[in-house]
Amino acid sequence: VRVGLLGCGRVGQALVTLAGRRNAIAGWVHVECVCALVRDLHRRRGETDVRLTTSAAAVLDAGIDVVVDVMGGVEPARTIVTAALDAGLPVVTAGKTLVARHGPALRALARRCGVTFSYEAAVVAGVPFVGALTRRPHASDVNGISGIVNGTSHFVVTAMAAGATTARALTHAVGLGYAETDAEADLGGRDAAEKLTILRHLCGEPLATVDDVLCRSVRDLEPADFAGAHLLSGSIKPVAIAPFDAGSRTAWVGPAFLPSGHVLASLSGVDNAVQLRRGAGETVTFAGPGAGPEVTAATILDDVVEAATSRRAESEPWLTQQGRRVPRGTESAWFVRILKEPAVTACELATWLGELDVPYERLVSDRAGVYVRTTAAPWHAIERAESAMRDRGVAALAMPVLAR
Ligand SMILES: NC(=O)c1ccc[n+]([C@@H]2O[C@H](COP(=O)([O-])OP(=O)(O)OC[C@H]3O[C@@H](n4cnc5c(N)ncnc54)[C@H](OP(=O)(O)O)[C@@H]3O)[C@@H](O)[C@H]2O)c1
Repeated sequence: VRVGLLGCGRVGQALVTLAGRRNAIAGWVHVECVCALVRDLHRRRGETDVRLTTSAAAVLDAGIDVVVDVMGGVEPARTIVTAALDAGLPVVTAGKTLVARHGPALRALARRCGVTFSYEAAVVAGVPFVGALTRRPHASDVNGISGIVNGTSHFVVTAMAAGATTARALTHAVGLGYAETDAEADLGGRDAAEKLTILRHLCGEPLATVDDVLCRSVRDLEPADFAGAHLLSGSIKPVAIAPFDAGSRTAWVGPAFLPSGHVLASLSGVDNAVQLRRGAGETVTFAGPGAGPEVTAATILDDVVEAATSRRAESEPWLTQQGRRVPRGTESAWFVRILKEPAVTACELATWLGELDVPYERLVSDRAGVYVRTTAAPWHAIERAESAMRDRGVAALAMPVLAR
C-alpha cells in the first residue's frame, strides 16, 4: 500500500517508523510511506526514507493508494483532502479540528466519490471505538454521550485533586510530555469540544457544531471544589457531555461532579473514556490511553490497511437512519459550590436557591465553602441561578452531576 502523507511531524514520523517495523513481519500488508508534504524541507527530523515536498499536488500525483492527513488545522488540509477524495483516493485523517468542523461534508463527498474517509485517530486515538460504532449502526439505541476526552486536563485535575495548584500540575504535565506549554485549548475545553462534536456527528447529529458546546475551563476550579465533592461522596473530573434530547447549548465541556462508584471516577492521569448512554439508562464504556504519537500512528495504520483493502465500508450514523428524536428538555442534577469569602452562610445559600427555584437534595459546608447537590433541574435554570449569585458578588460555580 503506497501512502502519501500530508505532514511529517510527530505523528507522521511515528507512522513511518511503525510501518517500517510492521513491514518486517511476514504476511503483513506492506505499507510504504512514499512521500510527505511539509512546510520546511530543512527542518531536522528523525531518520526517514520518505521523500519530502512542499507541493500537495506532488503528493497526490505520486502513484499512491491512500492519503494520510497528519498536518493539523483546517486549511490547507481541507482543500487537499477534498482534492484527494475528488481524485478517488481514500483519506485517513488524525485531524480533529478538520473532522469536527468539516467531517459530515467530507464524509458525504467521500461517499459520492466511492472512497472511504476514515478518522478513528481524530478522536481519542488510543481507544479505537469509532470503527466499532460505525460497524454496528443498529446495535445501540444511543441517547447521550459522556466521557473524559482530554488527557491533559484530566492529568491536571487529577493532580489538583491530590492538592497541587493548576500551575504546578501543568508544569508537571509539560515535563512528562503530556501537555504543550500553551495548554489553553486543553484546559479551556476547545480540544474536548472538537472531539465531542465528532462524537455527536457520529451518533447522528450532523448539524452539531463546535460553537454549540458550552465550555468551562478547569482553571475555574478551586481547592474547595475537591473538598466539597468529597463531602458529598463524589469527585470532580473534566468531562464532555452531550445528551441527545434537546436543542442547542446542551453540549457541555468542563469540570463535572461524579458520584462515587461512577465508572469514570476510577480513571486518573491521562486516561480517556467515552461512554454511550442508551436504551433504558444502561451505559457502554470504552476506556484507555488517550493519545500520543505512537498509539495514534498505530490507529492510523489500521485505518490505512482497511481503506486500501476495502475491508470496511463506512455506515451512515445510526440516528440519521432512524430519524431525529423528540426533544424532552435537558435536565441534570447539579453540584453547586459557593466560597465563603465574601461571607455567605449555608442558610443564605438555601434561601437563594429557593428564590431561584432550584430544588436541592443535600447541603453541606466546611471552612472554605458551602456545597449543594441539587435534584434534577434544567440546564438553563441552573445557569441563571449561577449568574444571579455571581451578580451578588458570590463566588459560585455549578457543575453537572454525571448520572451513573
Ligand atoms: N500528537 C498526538 O499525540 C496526536 C494525537 C491524535 C491526533 N493528533 C493529530 O495529528 C495531527 C498531527 O499532529 P502532530 O503532533 O504530528 O503535529 P506536528 O508535529 O506539528 O506535525 C505537523 C506536520 O504537518 C506539516 N504542516 C503543517 N502545516 C503545513 C502546511 N500548511 N503546509 C505543509 N505542511 C504543513 C508540518 O510541516 P513541518 O514539519 O515542515 O513544520 C509537520 O510536518 C494533528 O491534526 C493532531 O491534532 C495528534
